[in-house]
Amino acid sequence: MKVLGIESSCDETAVAVVEDGRTILSNIVYSQISIHKQYGGVVPEIASRKHIEKISYVVDEAINRAGINLNDIDAVAVTYAPGLIGALLTGVNYAKGISYGLGIPLVPVNHLRGHIASNYLTFDNLEPPFLGVIISGGHSHIVGVSSYTDYKIIGRTVDDAPGELFDKISRVLGLGYPGGVEIQKRAVLGEKNHYKLTTPKLNNPYDFSFSGLKTNAINIIRSGIIKCTDDINDICASLNYKVADILVEKSICAAKEFKYNKIVLAGGVSANLIIRKVFCDAADREGIQLYKPALPLCGDNGAMIASQGFYEFKGGNIASLNLNALATKEI
Ligand code: KG4
Ligand code: ZN
Repeated sequence: MKVLGIESSCDETAVAVVEDGRTILSNIVYSQISIHKQYGGVVPEIASRKHIEKISYVVDEAINRAGINLNDIDAVAVTYAPGLIGALLTGVNYAKGISYGLGIPLVPVNHLRGHIASNYLTFDNLEPPFLGVIISGGHSHIVGVSSYTDYKIIGRTVDDAPGELFDKISRVLGLGYPGGVEIQKRAVLGEKNHYKLTTPKLNNPYDFSFSGLKTNAINIIRSGIIKCTDDINDICASLNYKVADILVEKSICAAKEFKYNKIVLAGGVSANLIIRKVFCDAADREGIQLYKPALPLCGDNGAMIASQGFYEFKGGNIASLNLNALATKEI
């Protein structure tokens, strides 16, 4: 079964064709980063306008690269939530047109489920149940995944997401947008124990809070003690390792308590090399199997939506033409 996946929840116009949920036939990402960079973050209205301009070209390219015709598509899957509302509406509306025009099912996909599915594209043999850890620019969730379409939230951020924290600190340090990769580049050169950063305490041991850490890092930067390249490398290393340690400790505890022997990482921040390594080491120590998406599939892409769309379709999740987009939706 060939599924066309459309993703437009933020600043990537992304379309892919995936066969039976596991084989990528094409995966085209048009990134708007160079446009939003000059504003230091994503400008929602510009994002919507760029999606509407680019989406038909990206769909055509995905079909051509897959070596098929539009008529060969069996279903169209689209991110309908969560995300920037104007951006989501562009993809949802385009998908409706394809569904109506070709008479094929319209499959709604939650963006966070899509991130998890990037692992189905990376590991042929991966199947639920497992513990999912989704870390991105807008989200930070620990979820119990008992089937392809059955998710239970175990913990979540009560304020900022880790990607948001990295983006903010990068901006304060003048390192540019998106910040995660810029922080990582310096962090690998720095001393991780140089600055003692705060560890948040929360009632639910599996919830996250990153806003105190953000204030803590900003206060250090604004105090004037960050003077040279080495200082920047050290604050980046201290921050990156602190985030990695918080994520890993909670994820390992949750895996043990809820009896999962597999942890599946997902989301843009799962591309972080330090976070990947700290997770690997901890999982090895604890005898837990760790799955990380292939690096090109960590960020937003259409293939993850097509993959999850295949499983949603099999589970009977088909939308009618009154499908709406939602800015917020748990998972
Ligand atoms: O999943 P994603 O592409 O979009 C959302 O759904 O939010 O994640 C984007 C986030 C940004 O905050 C970006 O700074 C972060 O992922 N990111 C990284 C890395 N690459 C992207 N964070 C840390 N290390 C990276 N290598
Ligand atoms: Zn995302």
